[in-house]
Amino acid sequence: MKTIFLRDKNFDLWIPFEEIDKDIERLAVEINKEEKDKKPIFLVVLNGSFVFAADLLKKLNIECEVEFIKVKSYEGMQQSGNIQLELQPDWNNIAGRKVIIVEDIVDTGKTLRYLYDLIKSKGVNEIDVCTLFFKPEAYRDILPLKWIGRKIDNRFIVGYGLDYDGLGRNLKDIYVFNSNK
Ligand code: IMP
Ligand code: MG
Repeated sequence: MKTIFLRDKNFDLWIPFEEIDKDIERLAVEINKEEKDKKPIFLVVLNGSFVFAADLLKKLNIECEVEFIKVKSYEGMQQSGNIQLELQPDWNNIAGRKVIIVEDIVDTGKTLRYLYDLIKSKGVNEIDVCTLFFKPEAYRDILPLKWIGRKIDNRFIVGYGLDYDGLGRNLKDIYVFNSNK
């Protein structure tokens, strides 16, 4: 079992990139089919989603645009509670359009709810959510998640864009926190 050490914690290899790539391929096939004539804007939630978004978008063959939004909610492995908006997209470009929120992971759903209400207030036409990972046990909201790459247990993961205290985003595979080490 491959283990890595980030700052002060051990993480074990859990989901190899090859598995993630299959999930993304499946999502891309569905999105290519369903969004064909909608000219959606993919609103990528930074920082975590940049790796997923890049791989997903390369598999899409529909007419679409990309914008970025940055929020901060986690400190280490704990949610800080309050969500801060750190970078805003071009709202003028987004008004009246179909928006697809691209998330790395939906955990409690607090970040997603914040983003959804904010985007809705900007007069968009339609909002859908596309997330690579989803923790159903931790989810506390009722917003439907239209596209889910993979449902996972309520465990803390890093890699493929996801971080522990800013570290681990560059890892190609997904690693999971191991409390026993
Ligand atoms: P939520 O607001 O609880 O749904 O959390 C969403 C955000 O928290 C994600 O966009 C991630 O940045 C971060 N997050 C949630 N779970 C994890 C995890 O297991 N590893 C790394 N970041 C996570
Ligand atoms: Mg994060």
